[in-house]
Amino acid sequence: MRSHDHVSPGEFDAAIADIRSSGGGSVRWFVSNPTDAERGYAAHHGLTIDVPLLLMRCDLPLDSRHRTPTGFATRAFRPGIDNDEWLAVNARAFADHPEQGDWNHDVLAERLAEPWFDPHGFLIHEINGHIAGFCWTQVHHTGAHHNTGAHHHDHTGAHHHDQQEPAGEIYVIGVDPVHHGKSLGRALTIAGFAHLATHGLRRGMLYVAGDNSPAIHLYSSLGMTVAHRDEVFVGVIS
Ligand SMILES: CC(C)(COP(=O)(O)OP(=O)(O)OC[C@H]1O[C@@H](n2cnc3c(N)ncnc32)[C@H](O)[C@@H]1OP(=O)(O)O)[C@@H](O)C(=O)NCCC(=O)NCCS
Repeated sequence: MRSHDHVSPGEFDAAIADIRSSGGGSVRWFVSNPTDAERGYAAHHGLTIDVPLLLMRCDLPLDSRHRTPTGFATRAFRPGIDNDEWLAVNARAFADHPEQGDWNHDVLAERLAEPWFDPHGFLIHEINGHIAGFCWTQVHHTGAHHNTGAHHHDHTGAHHHDQQEPAGEIYVIGVDPVHHGKSLGRALTIAGFAHLATHGLRRGMLYVAGDNSPAIHLYSSLGMTVAHRDEVFVGVIS
């Protein structure tokens, strides 16, 4: 859950009660500049502080210095055909980030069925016929915020407060760890933003965990800057 504004103890308790009545489970609460009181509610319900979540932004297209390397190719995701292999690569890439790495067939199928899903915006890079990396983009239209669900990328309300321009998001990006450090992540990020720019988007954004230095370093080197930071509280409600 994400708080756009500060919450009262009553609102917080109501949200927790809702989660409990729908069977409980693991909770992540994203809040910008939490007050001492909010930290108190989190602690009261057994939530502990986790790594902050950064919103990074850039103008599109990226600077012309950042081009996909010659010969670097991607293809569209093929729903149904690529699911198993993509889930395996996603799990390996996000082994240290269970909220993304734990995606199963049902979660993927739900996302592929979202009205915003476009296979051409889900770029796949193959090496020897196997998925080596991917960049899944998403277009956010002004005023039509269509995300649902429990994943942090789905709570993108923050950028709707202060911009009217539609934004192009890198929703999930990953490289199979056997191929890390070969510039595939850089090429995929550039390819994803180029795809979004081709579709007329002039704003790029993504969310990244505050301790993901390889990714933050990569995005900064492409001209992205941190626009917003959320504190994250986590726990299990039963
Ligand atoms: C982030 C990720 C996509 C980078 O992919 P990659 O192919 O290994 O990265 P590249 O080889 O293109 O390197 C790009 C830049 O990242 C940085 N980088 C990559 N690995 C790094 C590491 N282990 N430590 C520090 N910086 C690193 C470097 O700055 C590099 O810049 P350089 O070209 O000037 O050396 C990859 O590490 C990954 O899949 N991580 C797990 C999933 C993930 O965290 N996704 C991002 C979520 S927002």
